[in-house]
Amino acid sequence: MPDGFYSDPQARNAGAPLPAFTPAVEKETAALWERVKDRITPLEWRVQAPLIVEINRLKRQKDAVILAHNYMTPDIFHGVGDFVGDSLGLAREAARAQATRIVQAGVHFMAETSKVLCPEKTVLIPDLTAGCSLASSITAEDVRRLKARYPGVPVVTYVNTTAAVKAETDICCTSANAVQVVEAAAKAFGTDQVLLLPDEYLARNVARQTDIKIIAWQGRCEVHEQFSAADIVEMREAYPGAHVLAHPECSEEVVAVSHFTGSTAAMVDYVQTKRPKQVMLITECSMADNVAIETPGVEFIRPCNLCPHMKKISLQSIYESLVYDRFEVDVPDAVSALARQAVQRMIDLPPPAVPARYDLVRAQRPVAVELV
Ligand code: 13P
Ligand code: SF4
Repeated sequence: MPDGFYSDPQARNAGAPLPAFTPAVEKETAALWERVKDRITPLEWRVQAPLIVEINRLKRQKDAVILAHNYMTPDIFHGVGDFVGDSLGLAREAARAQATRIVQAGVHFMAETSKVLCPEKTVLIPDLTAGCSLASSITAEDVRRLKARYPGVPVVTYVNTTAAVKAETDICCTSANAVQVVEAAAKAFGTDQVLLLPDEYLARNVARQTDIKIIAWQGRCEVHEQFSAADIVEMREAYPGAHVLAHPECSEEVVAVSHFTGSTAAMVDYVQTKRPKQVMLITECSMADNVAIETPGVEFIRPCNLCPHMKKISLQSIYESLVYDRFEVDVPDAVSALARQAVQRMIDLPPPAVPARYDLVRAQRPVAVELV
């Protein structure tokens, strides 16, 4: 890249020129190609391989690490991710990251969480419009109204929320630890009820695992709410031997007709330890591609949905993010300090001994769904 390119505003708008697929690039990426070639076409690889080489070089040059969520496409997940995993795993990695720059290959609330945990680091998100229907379903003002309505009731929010919402929160949770966090919060407040915001379906699935009374919000994940129990039953009839693994952002009805329900990391763990012949992951589509690369011999049946927000992150946008140091995520200090407490309390809990699962009905308390 010629000197001066970075400061040329026209070049900035045009985007960085794509590096070429050369024999040297082909050689450097040969081992990776062997791993991913069942999921990526040779034509795609000619564009992706040079970007992977350049991104990995830029990471070293700029002292950056890439935190990649399980929903990233395989070129990102396997090619450039330094730390990969679910929301809880990525938050833990952000908290202990050594590099001076973090590039979040995920959505905006994840980048905010990284910034809140590492205020002194530069946190970049390759596309500022990579949002989340859950994060946009609730505001800090909504949480303040709920707190006024339920004084003394602890507020647990899913990490899929803005930093401003986290700042109004007692403790955060992810789908990997929600039951554990709800019970810890109720105990700390000496109460038997908890506000669990904003995912209504996660709240309903948690309520089946605990005797704590759950007060929920009407947020939904636009990806997981699309799955219906009828779809799953139809797929199970077509593939009677397949193990069906659902995410707890799916409805209770979908969970009821699945074999296992857990966070994305819990699904990975299930496939890696049980090695079923056939499996269906009722979640975002890239998950299956990423796990398939690591578990040859397992056949993935694909009733999946794409997350339009996660799919805004591409190798090219990551490359440009590193070239131009864009787009920097910032969180005001006062918000950050409060949000950090809520995220840190979650991180400080011991990691769950076994991945949380939501498919075994342990309790059946009614869930109050609030909208203020
Ligand atoms: P987890 O990776 O925590 O299971 O979350 C899934 C999700 O939808 C993230 O946006
Ligand atoms: Fe949000 Fe759902 Fe996309 Fe995750 S999959 S980022 S919860 S919309």
